[in-house]
Amino acid sequence: MTGRPQRILRIDSSARYEGSVTRELTGRLVERLSALAPGAEIIERDLGPGVPVVTEVSVGAYFTPPDQRDPAQHRALAPSDALVEELRSADVLVLGVPMYNFTVPAALKAYFDLVARVGLTFRYTEQGPVGLLSGKSAYVVVSTAGVEVGSTADYTTDYVRQFLGFLGITEVQVVAADLLLADAGRLDLARQRIDALAAA
Ligand SMILES: Cc1cc2nc3c(=O)[nH]c(=O)nc-3n(C[C@H](O)[C@H](O)[C@H](O)COP(=O)(O)O)c2cc1C
Repeated sequence: MTGRPQRILRIDSSARYEGSVTRELTGRLVERLSALAPGAEIIERDLGPGVPVVTEVSVGAYFTPPDQRDPAQHRALAPSDALVEELRSADVLVLGVPMYNFTVPAALKAYFDLVARVGLTFRYTEQGPVGLLSGKSAYVVVSTAGVEVGSTADYTTDYVRQFLGFLGITEVQVVAADLLLADAGRLDLARQRIDALAAA
């Protein structure tokens, strides 16, 4: 992270724009982080409109050496290649994750399927898979209406941690804006946590 300005990649996955809690909080985090890192470049990846899902052609292409891919495989890989490059270039990730039916929105799952690329973002070794994106840190904003983050019904937070760890991103801070239906005051706690995290 030294020698060049930081690059912050903000990834939003809420289907909503108006009134989106996660978008408000990822925006707040990016604002705070960039105030601390003048010259930082902000990249915004909005998954709200959706991203392509993997297909038989793209999965086949993942496991075909680049010089042996046919034109259809190259075409199928283009969205994945671009997202992988964007992710690799970032120093800091700010990820907005609304809980949808106990887990992540389908668009975020589809994004994960596109950026988990053998040889690019992880590789297999005799000791098991090794993530290739070490050296990055991540902030994960999880928002829920009725499920408490960390409870047995939360299949979101640990899943995101697991996925990021699989790619080698292990420095992860979670900001919970949970149980908002029961207690709107928890949103303010999330805002305060963001301010404290960015000041740390
Ligand atoms: C399709 C859908 C599924 C949801 N599923 C859950 C859920 O399983 N548990 C929960 O606590 N909240 C659930 N919610 C509520 C959202 O997690 C909550 O409203 C969150 O703040 C949404 O993020 P956003 O405000 O950034 O859009 C769901 C909302 C939607 C739209």
